[in-house]
Amino acid sequence: MTKRYQPINPKCTHMLHGGDYNPDQWIRTPEIWDEDMRLMTLSGCNAMSVCIFSWSALEPAEGAFEFGWLDTIMDKLAANNAYAVMATPSGSKPAWMSRAYPEICRVKGDGVRQPHGSRHNHCRTSPVYREKCVIINTKLAERYKEHPALLLWHASNEYNGGDCQCDLCLAAFHNWLRVRYDNDLDKLNHAYWSSFWSHSFPDWDYIIPTDRGIHALMLDWERFKTHQTIDFFNAETAPLRAITPDIPVTTNFMPGSDTLDYGAFAKAVDVISWDSYPNWHEHSDEIGEAVTTARMHDQCRAMKGGKPFMLMESVPSIPTRGRVKKRKEPGMNLLSSLQAVAHGSDTVQYFQWRKSRGCMEKFHGAVVDHEGSENTREFKEVADVGAALAKLDDVVGTTMQPEVALIQDWENEWALREGARVYLGENIKYRQEMNAHYRPFWQAGVPVDVVDQTAELDAYKLVVVPMAYMLRPGFAARLKAYVENGGTAVMTYWSAVVDESDLCHLGGIPGDGLRELFGVWEEESQSYLPGESVGIAMAKDNALGISGPYTAVDTCSVIHAEGSTVLASYASEYVEGQPALTVKTHGKGKAYYIAARTDGAFLNDFYAALARDEGLACCLAADIPEGVSVQTRSDGDRDYIFVMNFNREAKSIELGSPYVDVLTDQAVGATVTLERYGVMVLRKP
Ligand code: GAL
Repeated sequence: MTKRYQPINPKCTHMLHGGDYNPDQWIRTPEIWDEDMRLMTLSGCNAMSVCIFSWSALEPAEGAFEFGWLDTIMDKLAANNAYAVMATPSGSKPAWMSRAYPEICRVKGDGVRQPHGSRHNHCRTSPVYREKCVIINTKLAERYKEHPALLLWHASNEYNGGDCQCDLCLAAFHNWLRVRYDNDLDKLNHAYWSSFWSHSFPDWDYIIPTDRGIHALMLDWERFKTHQTIDFFNAETAPLRAITPDIPVTTNFMPGSDTLDYGAFAKAVDVISWDSYPNWHEHSDEIGEAVTTARMHDQCRAMKGGKPFMLMESVPSIPTRGRVKKRKEPGMNLLSSLQAVAHGSDTVQYFQWRKSRGCMEKFHGAVVDHEGSENTREFKEVADVGAALAKLDDVVGTTMQPEVALIQDWENEWALREGARVYLGENIKYRQEMNAHYRPFWQAGVPVDVVDQTAELDAYKLVVVPMAYMLRPGFAARLKAYVENGGTAVMTYWSAVVDESDLCHLGGIPGDGLRELFGVWEEESQSYLPGESVGIAMAKDNALGISGPYTAVDTCSVIHAEGSTVLASYASEYVEGQPALTVKTHGKGKAYYIAARTDGAFLNDFYAALARDEGLACCLAADIPEGVSVQTRSDGDRDYIFVMNFNREAKSIELGSPYVDVLTDQAVGATVTLERYGVMVLRKP
């Protein structure tokens, strides 16, 4: 049963709109603060992230705190009917602190401590840094706990997995290892297969994370970094939780990077938020950029079981990333902002509100340009988003309940990167493969949850598991039980090769009992160069009813059908005649195995056939033009159907029944036409 969640903070029942706001950069010109307030009202902005990098303004010298400027800003926000998403300032430490306490600066793998500078580079273990964070965070919470503008805590900024290998971090790592391996060094040495190249560890403190030859060690180091980051987050947010228990806490995730296990981190925050920076207009496959972004939105929503998330950062126009720094073209800001909402975001926020005058991000897109007025295209397009969000109060808290799960797993990604690179070289392309399996559903308007291997599977009709090279403990058994009970699973080449220590399964792959589930043995895998391909021929009268022919690229595995039915075979190269796609009935369900990386045509037809068999369909129209995305949020009673055109030209869709466009309050006819980058939000009249 779909439900409606509470707003992020019930203080505000509207969609949030705003961005990173750095009034401390304008302390010398307070008239700019007043202008900010006027422009916020004009652009429909109601939520500003303050203090993200303000530590030197809040505590210019050790123990000397200055909150006057922040008091003024908080009061102005409240008077302007706006809210503060208040950050803890730990993302960037003040210079006096690095000098007084050098231990707070990270030490690289070469043993050299980094000098003060840049940001996001503190040691996460240092007790001094943790103490300093607790002091400033306590002061912030005490001072603003009753303030009407305080809406949400934004812990730090984009915690990342960056290495610190100082003595404190290494000692913490060794303690973490002792817990993981029950204080049993022999257990660790076995898991690390450390007799290889004579690497056996005689004691815990010999273990240093610079030896990339020991893949299990690399995996553990990644796990530890996630553990230590969450531990740091918990330590610095403890005073916030104690002093302001009703104010939710988030931190902005970067699911586009692979440095932390965000699935684990998700449990520690109250609401998921993330920073989305696609490079619009820079790729020949612009639709692909929309697909990648959609997948990450779905991942962020699914991390908390469907709870609405926050788009914490996006760029209103020109990014600092990207090859040639293309500005968003007209319409793209509204489209990409509502794309986030369509997938479950209750906010649209930007980096940044106002362009700084100096330093790294002075040219980065902003709601307010150096010119300073409301007359820029950027500002007007942000105001368009503000106007659209103002129409979407009823969408706040709604969600979606997909029947398809795509398994994308952080630990598996690390294992592919660390453990499989020696074997598979450049053809790993895990994220591209995720997109390839996600795209047919996106294109068909069938919603998807993107979840990791720890997810509960029972609620899904279809579970897609590409390239699950490393299986977490228990996943294979749960997948098996899921199929036995009637679920449909799809798995691909290079799955269940190793266990959580990157130790190869003995007895053939897929291991961990999945050879029996899928009825295949994957004997070997051949890699191909760019431009090379292998034909795939569907079996005559196959049960899927698809005919091909298709092609495989990058890699083809040689599999043997062991009690499974061969649905397709290779049609060229030395693998000719060997199975490329199989299915096996197991209990009440079905288990498909795709042996190769295929072209998009195969995945489109294959998943269309599965969607037909499973009764998975778009709620709006059977025929959705390519590059148009349909996503539906619902509270169980009313559906809000977002229709988004990512094409550079107009597209029309036949709707079966009459609808109203929530954004314009206009009835729409039997056929709707979406302009280039057009977007509509439909509801039944
Ligand atoms: C984000 C970061 C912001 C800003 C932005 C620029 O990753 O959190 O502080 O640097 O990038 O795109």
